[in-house]
Amino acid sequence: MTSVVGARPQFVKLAPVHSALVAAGHEHRIVHTGQHYDHDMSDQFFAEFGIPQPDVNLGVGSSSHAKQTAAMLTGIEDVLSGARGDWVLVYGDTNSTLAAALVAARLMQPLAHLEAGLRSFNRAMPEEQNRIVADHLSDLLLAPTGSAMEQLAREGLAAKSAMVGDVMADVCLSVRDSVVAAGDVPSHGPYLLATIHRQENTDDPARLRMLVDVLGRSPLPVRLHAHPRLTAKFEHAGISSLPGNVAVLPPLGYRDLVAAVLGSAGVVTDSGGLQKEAFLLARPCLTLRNETEWTETLEGGWNRLLGGDTTFPAGFPDAGLDAASRGEPFGDGRAAHRVVEALARGARRHA
Ligand code: UD1
Repeated sequence: MTSVVGARPQFVKLAPVHSALVAAGHEHRIVHTGQHYDHDMSDQFFAEFGIPQPDVNLGVGSSSHAKQTAAMLTGIEDVLSGARGDWVLVYGDTNSTLAAALVAARLMQPLAHLEAGLRSFNRAMPEEQNRIVADHLSDLLLAPTGSAMEQLAREGLAAKSAMVGDVMADVCLSVRDSVVAAGDVPSHGPYLLATIHRQENTDDPARLRMLVDVLGRSPLPVRLHAHPRLTAKFEHAGISSLPGNVAVLPPLGYRDLVAAVLGSAGVVTDSGGLQKEAFLLARPCLTLRNETEWTETLEGGWNRLLGGDTTFPAGFPDAGLDAASRGEPFGDGRAAHRVVEALARGARRHA
């Protein structure tokens, strides 16, 4: 079994999958494309989750989409060329996902896509392009939710799909329990936890200035944990200082992130993962996008879309949401176990 990962959220998804694969006695090779490379964006997660160092790190780094993806294609082809015909597992929707899916398919290696069936229906997003290609090239589609399964069926992929639940819920719920048990929830007054990193928000200077203005109108202090892409783009957008209520802080490790969400009154983000984490941790979320792939989070008012608004939404963060009404749309925290079972079943079918 070979997992190909490269970006921060993929290391979080890798953690429970690696543990479950090892527990079931599988050999697991980890290939890191090097898409993310700063300590805060990569090594920190391997250390925190006790994931072994990758067997291979291609060290592709940052560049344009084409150059970055091209470097990954070449590197992954070298790594997978000599591989036996067991599963290549790709995660989510990044350029690393796209590159590994394409190479595995060309080399006729069995390909499994974790987090299959998600759609924003916004083809301008590189992530939407990446996930559609990965789904349609894969031999096994591991879906996190019922709505993802339905979408795969609409695209003619039902026979290859398995509903496993969301491995990010596995991690989030177990880290939550550990944070709460250790009394590590911060208590420095009410605040909003914010992140912004999507290309469509960071790379358009007018859009980024508008979002900073929205944060500046928050009635609560905002703790903005900045992805390096965001810090780099402030200057580009001519933003030399931020509103007085917005503190720019470094990216967080996973446990610190869960603690910071639990300590917050609400979350403001354009991250897919953080929308779900806010939902799982019962904190209201404002999503700085026009649409979300994670539509389950919208139910009960737990997540709202900023959409075309250019002002801070009235009444956010919503008080009085019913935590008990959320159900378990992302599974019961045992998704990784079902991923391993689905891979084993699929391997028997391929044999
Ligand atoms: C990528 C994914 C996105 C995912 C995100 C998680 C694609 C197309 N996008 O976006 O789906 O939500 O990861 O974080 O694959 N940079 C650093 N250090 C790093 C990594 C990045 O400084 O370790 C900076 C560089 O300026 C780089 C920029 O961030 O150019 C963007 O990085 P990149 O990997 O291209 O995309 P992300 O925005 O991280």
